[in-house]
Order: sequence, then C-alpha cells, then structure tokens
Amino acid sequence: MRLALLGSGMIVRDLLSAVADVPGLTVVAIQGRPASQDRLEELAQAHGIPKVYTDLGSCLADPEVDTVYVGLPNDLHHAASRAALEAGKHVVCEKPFTSTVAELEELTRIAAARGLMLLEAITTVHHRAYREIVRRLPSLGRLRLVECVYSQRSSRYDAFRAGEVHAAFDPGRGGGALRDLGIYGIHFVVGLLGEPDSVSYHPTLERGVDTSGVLVLSYAQTQAVVVCAKDSHASSHAAVQGDEATIEMHGAPNTCGPLVLTTPAGSRPLEVETHPHRMVDEFREFVRIVAEGDVSARDRLLAHSSAALRTLERATDSVGW
Ligand SMILES: NC(=O)c1ccc[n+]([C@@H]2O[C@H](COP(=O)([O-])OP(=O)(O)OC[C@H]3O[C@@H](n4cnc5c(N)ncnc54)[C@H](OP(=O)(O)O)[C@@H]3O)[C@@H](O)[C@H]2O)c1
Repeated sequence: MRLALLGSGMIVRDLLSAVADVPGLTVVAIQGRPASQDRLEELAQAHGIPKVYTDLGSCLADPEVDTVYVGLPNDLHHAASRAALEAGKHVVCEKPFTSTVAELEELTRIAAARGLMLLEAITTVHHRAYREIVRRLPSLGRLRLVECVYSQRSSRYDAFRAGEVHAAFDPGRGGGALRDLGIYGIHFVVGLLGEPDSVSYHPTLERGVDTSGVLVLSYAQTQAVVVCAKDSHASSHAAVQGDEATIEMHGAPNTCGPLVLTTPAGSRPLEVETHPHRMVDEFREFVRIVAEGDVSARDRLLAHSSAALRTLERATDSVGW
C-alpha cells in the first residue's frame, strides 16, 4: 500500500508511529492546508515521507499514491473520500465514516463501480481482543446485557470550557461525545448483536454539545448500553453478559484490553496476543485487503460500517438532531 495522508493532526501522528510495524505499508505523501506547510514538512522529515502537498488535487493526481488516508475532521470525510475515489485511489477513512448514511451509500456505489477499496479506520472491529469476544460469543449462552463504557476527559475539554470550540466539540462539524467516542461503542455492540430494535440517546449538554451521554440499544432478548464521556474520566471497560458466561474487557473500545471470562466455575483471564499500538491490527488488514483486491472483505466491512452509521443516525434522530 502506497499511502497519502490527508491531515497532520493527532491521528495522523498516531498512525505514523505505527507504520514501521505494518509490513507492506509505505507513506509516500502527506497533504494539508498551505497554512500548515511547516508542520507538514516537519512530519515529512521526521518520518521520511518523500512528498508534501498543500493542494489536494495534485496529491490525488500523484501516480505513486494508490491509497488515501482521510485523517480530517468528521465533516470533511465525505468530500475528501469522494475526491480520492474519483481520482482512482483506494480510501481508508477515519471514524465516523461520514455524517449521514446517504453519504456513505454514495461512496460505496463509487467504490464498487470503480473496483476500489473503501474502508473505515475503526480500530475496534479489527482488534484481536474484540475478535476473540466475537469468536466466543456462541459459548456465552443467551446474551442478556452488553455494556460498553468509553470515558476519556478530552485534552481539548478545558479549551472548550474556556469558549474555544475545536471540531471534536462542534456538532456542526460532526463532533460531540457520541460521534467521537460513542461511535466505538456502537461498532462494538452492532458487531455482536446487529442493528437494534430501538435506539435512544440521553446526552448531557453543555452549550448545546453532548460532552457526555448514555445510549440505550434495545434488542428483543438483550439490552445494551453505550456510555461516552469527553468531560470526565472513568475506567473504560465493556461487559458482554450471557446466561452461561460473561466476558469483561478492561479497556476502552478503541484500544480494547485484557479479557476475563467468568462462568459458574469461576473467573480466568483469556490470553490474546495483541500489538500495543491499536492501529496496527487494522492497518495490517487494510494492506492485505488492498493488495489482494479482497472485494468480499470490503463489502462485509462496509455492511458493518453502514449498520453502525444507521444506528448512530437513529441515536441522533432520537434527540431531534
Ligand atoms: N485524535 C485521536 O486520537 C483520534 C482517534 C481516532 C480517530 N480520530 C479521527 O481522526 C480525525 C481527525 O481527528 P484529529 O484528532 O487528528 O484532529 P486534529 O488534530 O484537529 O487534526 C485535523 C487535521 O485536519 C486538518 N483540517 C482541519 N480543518 C480543515 C479544513 N477545513 N480543510 C482541510 N484540512 C483541515 C487540520 O489541519 P490544520 O492543522 O491546517 O488545521 C489537521 O491537519 C477525526 O475524524 C477523528 O474522529 C482521532
């Protein structure tokens, strides 16, 4: 995979620190706004990236690039992904994929028509600890409760309280706790149970922004709750409770974490070999999918992303957003 990075913010830096552990992945270009040129040059130098672009069109026209990574604020995902697909590039786009289901459907059609890969960078579904929960699901009996908590007081929360509104806290730009953190819990639950029968979101609002909230996803035989907070901290964790056994995960749904299995006979840890960098498992899979042109993996992942996005849309509908 010969990747061009769009953006030079927190997630792009995070990805750059994982690249060395993803065989077959080469970053060939980085693109950003002209005002960020110094930062782009600095990152390019530090990570041996040969080309820096401040114009999207030139970056997308580069024949050395076969895949584009969209590491931009949420409201820019759709336009950037569409431009990349129309330029004939595969796309790996940050979460949440797009602002609406209709936007994702449009991207899906373009990718299918052009035989390109279109993938959402949502670490949860590729993480080995989460895959282990999915694998063991049938052994838990009838699933009764799923709980997924991601509470992380944002490094940008103090600035928000002081009146500054970063995109991650701006509902007009696809920000807020549900879209930023709750989306991981939605992927976690929908990946286990499919789409819920009913969805209701209960936000805590500060200046019209959900800085935290509780999402209830109801199924015929199972209830699920997703807790997300950017305004306060707690130990993030998940529990998947069946009437025969329960798996608890000690960690947030983006990084996952150690698993413990509890049955009537007692509790024991489940050994899962994971990479310490949360983005390595997903990018190893993306490199494979692009290299093999694995259309069925693309379509399976897109169907899952689409189900998660529909659930997110129903959650925001439930509060009239
Ligand atoms: N931060 C994380 O840990 C994290 C984790 C997982 C996923 N994500 C996802 O990654 C994406 C980016 O988040 P982030 O935290 O990396 O944001 P960030 O630090 O604010 O970086 C955003 C990047 O987008 C650029 N940008 C902003 N507005 C733009 C515009 N109007 N036109 C073109 N470029 C623009 C910024 O460029 P300038 O420098 O020129 O402003 C910057 O390079 C989001 O979708 C988020 O959900 C983030």
